[in-house]
Parts: sequence; C-alpha cells; structure tokens
Amino acid sequence: MTSINYRNKTIQILPDVYEPAEDSFLLVDALLEIIRDNDSLLEVGCGSGIVSVFAKDHCKNVLATDINPHAVHCALLNGIDVVMTDLFACIKGTFDIVVFNPPYLPTSTEDQVGGWDDLMLNGGPDGRDTIRRFVADVGNHLDPDGQVLLLISSLTGIKEVCDLFHGEGMSVQTVAESMYFFEKLVVLKARKAPEKQV
Ligand SMILES: C[S@@+](CC[C@H](N)C(=O)[O-])C[C@H]1O[C@@H](n2cnc3c(N)ncnc32)[C@H](O)[C@@H]1O
Repeated sequence: MTSINYRNKTIQILPDVYEPAEDSFLLVDALLEIIRDNDSLLEVGCGSGIVSVFAKDHCKNVLATDINPHAVHCALLNGIDVVMTDLFACIKGTFDIVVFNPPYLPTSTEDQVGGWDDLMLNGGPDGRDTIRRFVADVGNHLDPDGQVLLLISSLTGIKEVCDLFHGEGMSVQTVAESMYFFEKLVVLKARKAPEKQV
C-alpha cells in the first residue's frame, strides 16, 4: 500500500487502484467551490475515494461507487461508504450532487493494457463510451435542483460531451480547467434545465 497527500489529508492507495492525479485534484477543487452543508452527494467511480473524502467534510450524506473491487476496498479503508456497481445499477434515490472522474481517454483496441487499468482511463474509441452511459442515466439520480460535476479532457471532446448533456435536456457549463502538456482538463457542471413557464 502507498499513500498520497493533498490539502493536508492522507489518502491510502491499494494496488490496482487509480492513483489520484491532476484530474482528481481539479475535481476536488471544483467540488469544494460548489458544495454546501447538508448536500447529499453520490460519487461514481470513486477509485481511492479521494473526492468523497473531501466531500465528507461538508455533506450530510456521501455515497460512492466503483466497478473495481480493489477500489471499493481502498475507499472503505479511506472511510467512505461505497457500493460495488456499474455506474448507477445498484443506486436508488436522488442526490444534490453527482460527481464523476470517468475513464475519459480515447483508446483503441491495440492501446488497451488489460486488467483493472483499462477501467481507469479507457473511454473506448472516442473516449466517451462510459460518459455516454453516465449522462443518459444521471438525471434519474439528481434532485430537481441538483448538480453534476464531470471531469473530462480536451481529448474526450468537450463540445461532444456538452451535446450529450443537451440531448438529455440538461444545461452545462465549464467551471474549472487546467492546461497540461498534451491536453486540457475540464470540469463540466450540468443541471436539469428549468421547465419553461407557460
Ligand atoms: C480516472 S479513475 C478516477 C478515480 C477517482 N475518482 C479519482 O478521481 O482519483 C476512474 C474510476 O472509475 C471507475 N469506473 C470505470 N468504469 C466504471 C463503471 N462503469 N462504473 C463504476 N465505476 C467505474 C474505475 O474503476 C476508476 O476507479
């Protein structure tokens, strides 16, 4: 087991679990800007649980999920309530905030590395395989005024992901971004578009 430190917290990392990196940190920082006391929060794909660890300081109720059993074990070690499931399959109810740092990199079959690593960053040929399924279902787990925070890369296609949210009748905006050598990381905030008054 290893550990990392961020914002004065120590996060334990088990083998076969995504090691928090710039994407995780950008998402934590964006979340801390919007989170309010008494929010309920669902983190999809929690990995080590780093995002939920920071959410727990503010929220009345934090639940996390991951499809990787090693990540589930690791998040438990870091004090997070976590369910092993594919996206929302085992999740009932709605939340004020749903947050996800998904597998977002375009990955061809030849580029696949195999094992648990593929679940961490492999977003399929266009980078949006998991994101597409997430966006199609997230509205069912969101309170009427709820907010979604989704981390993606410029390599994922920012306009294309915004179009996915629009296709579900949701509004979306960029709330954080950071440039790196070969990509820009972006946090999108989406919500259900208000009903039109007649
Ligand atoms: C880029 S890592 C992010 C981990 C952590 N949230 C962070 O920011 O450090 C993506 C995580 O999503 C999980 N994941 C991938 N596909 C998933 C799915 N269909 N359902 C739930 N979790 C999934 C992976 O196992 C991995 O832990």
